[in-house]
Amino acid sequence: METIQIPDDDDAIPVPGPIVAIAGDDMVRPVWINERGGVTFELGAGPSRRFAKWAPASAPDLDLAGEVARLRWAGAYARVPRVLAEGADSDGRWLVTAGLPGGSAVARRWREDPLLAVRASGVGLRRLHDTLPVDDCPFDWSVESRLARSEKWAASPDPALGDAPTVDRLVVCHGDPCVPNTLLLDDGTWSGHVDLDALGTADRWADLAIGTMSLGWNYGDGWEGEYFDAYGIDPDPGRIAYYRALWNAT
Ligand SMILES: Nc1ncnc2c1ncn2[C@@H]1O[C@H](COP(=O)(O)OP(=O)(O)OP(=O)(O)O)[C@@H](O)[C@H]1O
Ligand SMILES: [Mg+2]
Repeated sequence: METIQIPDDDDAIPVPGPIVAIAGDDMVRPVWINERGGVTFELGAGPSRRFAKWAPASAPDLDLAGEVARLRWAGAYARVPRVLAEGADSDGRWLVTAGLPGGSAVARRWREDPLLAVRASGVGLRRLHDTLPVDDCPFDWSVESRLARSEKWAASPDPALGDAPTVDRLVVCHGDPCVPNTLLLDDGTWSGHVDLDALGTADRWADLAIGTMSLGWNYGDGWEGEYFDAYGIDPDPGRIAYYRALWNAT
């Protein structure tokens, strides 16, 4: 997904009123802007450090309510942000979560020297898949549900995608396992996952195909083998190709 990581010294992003009010006396720093105009702000520091995601009214498809439901469910099992507050007014919607320890896997130091970040991202995805219980999961990210929800697919359906590969292993998938959604501790070990609005049950290859595709966008070519090794799996070219095509089509 096309996104911008905001430089530390950027003060050109306006802070919406509700976020100013939530921050109180704490400092507010924009850290991320997504391709649909949603902005994430970091508020405060130390024990009160938290993150506020802002979805402007002009981007109704940013599903903060769906993310809240998934964070609340997954939080009983996995290292994901704890929901502190949510709200809406006529200008937009917001979601406030407690800060997870560490920082982004695409921080400059990891983009300059990616090996530990690549390995931690593979390990982290494996932990998520091994930890979240499929039988208890109320959310679905199957091929059928993704095609049924996709306006892009409805507008130009690709018949090849109707023929999904058999499921290798059904797990609770992250749903957007691109490396910026992985957080690392300072020593390069995995800290947790953010951005769970698409989480749901699906073949593990739905996540693996995209986690590895995102390595090239963020770190350059040549890192996929390290990621698959860290996850503990051999690449499956057929399922990788299918789930990348599905991602691009939906
Ligand atoms: N609770 C949290 N603890 C630590 N960091 C966080 C937290 N929430 C968000 N972040 C940071 O803010 C960034 C943006 O958050 P998130 O990925 O949820 O936003 P998004 O706009 O939905 O992302 P995308 O562009 O992938 O759609 C994350 O990559 C992470 O670095
Ligand atoms: Mg994200």
